[in-house]
Amino acid sequence: MTKGIVFDISAVGSSIVGLVSNAVRAEVKLAVYGAENAGELDMALEKAGLCASDFDCIVYAKEVERGKPHGDAYRYCTLKLGLSHEECVVVETSVDGHRAAKDALCRSIGIFGGVGNASFEDQLEAGADILYKSLFQFPAFSSLEEFDGLILSETKAFYDKTIIGDLLFNALDVQNNAYAPYSKFKVGAALLTEKGNIYKGCNVENASFGGTICAERGAAMAAIAAEGKTALKLLAVASSGDDPAPPCALCRQFLSEFMSPYAQVYMISSTSGVVRHYSFGTLMPCSFTEF
Ligand code: THU
Repeated sequence: MTKGIVFDISAVGSSIVGLVSNAVRAEVKLAVYGAENAGELDMALEKAGLCASDFDCIVYAKEVERGKPHGDAYRYCTLKLGLSHEECVVVETSVDGHRAAKDALCRSIGIFGGVGNASFEDQLEAGADILYKSLFQFPAFSSLEEFDGLILSETKAFYDKTIIGDLLFNALDVQNNAYAPYSKFKVGAALLTEKGNIYKGCNVENASFGGTICAERGAAMAAIAAEGKTALKLLAVASSGDDPAPPCALCRQFLSEFMSPYAQVYMISSTSGVVRHYSFGTLMPCSFTEF
């Protein structure tokens, strides 16, 4: 359940005022990060029509050694709020900001309308779970349950109308073609290349067992066969079982030559509909690259 919101005050301007006042009323916990000191924070909050007492936790920039795209600040904020990463959503406007949120395993809301904000596409690729032109577009809420429901429905609506929805649909579609007579575990994968094309693969098992090829490597083979060496920007994997399955270690090693640590890997359960996503670098922090 989503119970907390984390802002970087240096990134998000006065459009946070509505969300903050709803959150205070609904008892959603609030953390603010990014100011250099109390004076600077007060000035920024005053400009936005807010005050420090609206927030349950304040983390100053100097309290965290490693800045974005490291997730240290957001990890520290969730810890100070007493919440888990799954219970917090970060509000961001930059690619490194979303990368930091993903590094802290938090979901993130992106704002793309505004001077200096990263584009819709760049924030989507960096892993934003919902994107608005302005935070004023976030619907009003008055309870924790309502806020949690909104985060879920807004995320689903965002996936449905973007390339993420296309990828998930393609992964679910190709899952039907899986040849898995031995394990009975069907997997489908869809990859987006830097040229903007989608390639699909499914697992194909073999009586020798060792000859089995996973869906993810099947999709990567199709992409490379069609385009040559190319960057694989987003991956969606569909599998049965209520918890969506991540790519196996062999596939992670295989994909590491084509995927950036910041590329997002979406996983969907074809039985429960649950979707999760992680940065590739979180799934594969230490790949074998040189010999
Ligand atoms: N499988 C995949 O296709 N992708 C993964 O990342 C996990 C495992 C397949 C291989 C095998 O056919 C079946 O799932 C059970 O391991």
